Amino acid sequence: MGSVVLGTGSCLPERILTNTEIETIVDTSAEWIKTRTGIESRRIGGEGELTYQLAVNAGKKALEAAGVSAKELGLIVVGTISSHMLMPSSACFVQSELGAENAFAYDLNAACSGFLYGLDLADKYIRADHSMKILVIGAETLSGRLNWQDRNTCILFGDGAGAAVCGYSDSLRGVIGSNLRSDGSLWDLLYMHAPESYNPDLLVAGNTGAFIQMAGREVFKHAVRAMEDAVRGLLRREDFDINDVDVVIPHQANMRILNKLVERLEIPQRKVFINVAKYGNTSAASIPIALDEANRSGLIAEGDTVLFCSFGGGFTWGATLIRW
Ligand code: ACO
Repeated sequence: MGSVVLGTGSCLPERILTNTEIETIVDTSAEWIKTRTGIESRRIGGEGELTYQLAVNAGKKALEAAGVSAKELGLIVVGTISSHMLMPSSACFVQSELGAENAFAYDLNAACSGFLYGLDLADKYIRADHSMKILVIGAETLSGRLNWQDRNTCILFGDGAGAAVCGYSDSLRGVIGSNLRSDGSLWDLLYMHAPESYNPDLLVAGNTGAFIQMAGREVFKHAVRAMEDAVRGLLRREDFDINDVDVVIPHQANMRILNKLVERLEIPQRKVFINVAKYGNTSAASIPIALDEANRSGLIAEGDTVLFCSFGGGFTWGATLIRW
């Protein structure tokens, strides 16, 4: 008994940027990107595809799938680190565009873990108030937050949005539990400055722009270890075995991280949903986009045990278990 996902949706920008096109932007090769990351293309937001606009479209599809009207929503949470404005939040734009007049709305910054943190919040609100219906969205346009001269980062990320409508159910379905973690002491392995101040007295020394900066190898090691620990801890706490899990939807960071994680957790590959080749790493949007694709392709059956896990800047990471 608890909060269930009533419907899912996603929205990807029209423009596809292939590895071959990236060869013309920065010193890299399509083959290098594919073999080191598994990524073959990513989507790039254009006109009418700001973070909140992708979020609105994903949200509309999730509401339609759930059979819930925007006016029934009590809360909208948008996980994002790439809003087009710092204030208002993307969530407020979504609330207004959807006409969700009864919902309060806010953004949540947990980088790639934004959707799992949002799902956990939704679960807790819904357990406290069974009448609540909550729209949880992960949405990003990280293409605008990348230094396209930095081949260490610009090849990895893409734009998009995914959404889930959550509500109460007195069945055995729903969120079983979450194991969410953070470690701010390692912030400088993966970060993005705020835009430079317009006040010259407050300029940050050495700030080279509000772009994603990353120590790739270090992030790789931490990501695999942290996601494995979060999953094992959650399964132990909820008295589940890894073999009880039917579908795994991990954060789509890159193929080598995913392969390593799958190997360490000893999960059969066929249970793991992966779409990173098409979209790259879409940060907070990656899990809900993958969830929507898996859900709409009929890969998740009612009663299945679904496991999510994520890792991102902060560091933030975690795992969530749902009975679908
Ligand atoms: N094209 C060609 N060569 C490149 C590129 C590129 N795009 N990027 C780096 N190289 C070069 C490096 O300069 C280096 O050259 P050198 O040996 O002459 O110095 C060589 O390739 C090897 O570089 P490494 O950084 O050791 O390459 P690695 O095998 O570690 O792969 C990668 C780099 C893909 C970034 C890897 O470290 C990784 O996957 N890290 C995880 C990062 C990640 O996924 N971050 C996302 C955010 S966090 C998350 O979502 C989990």
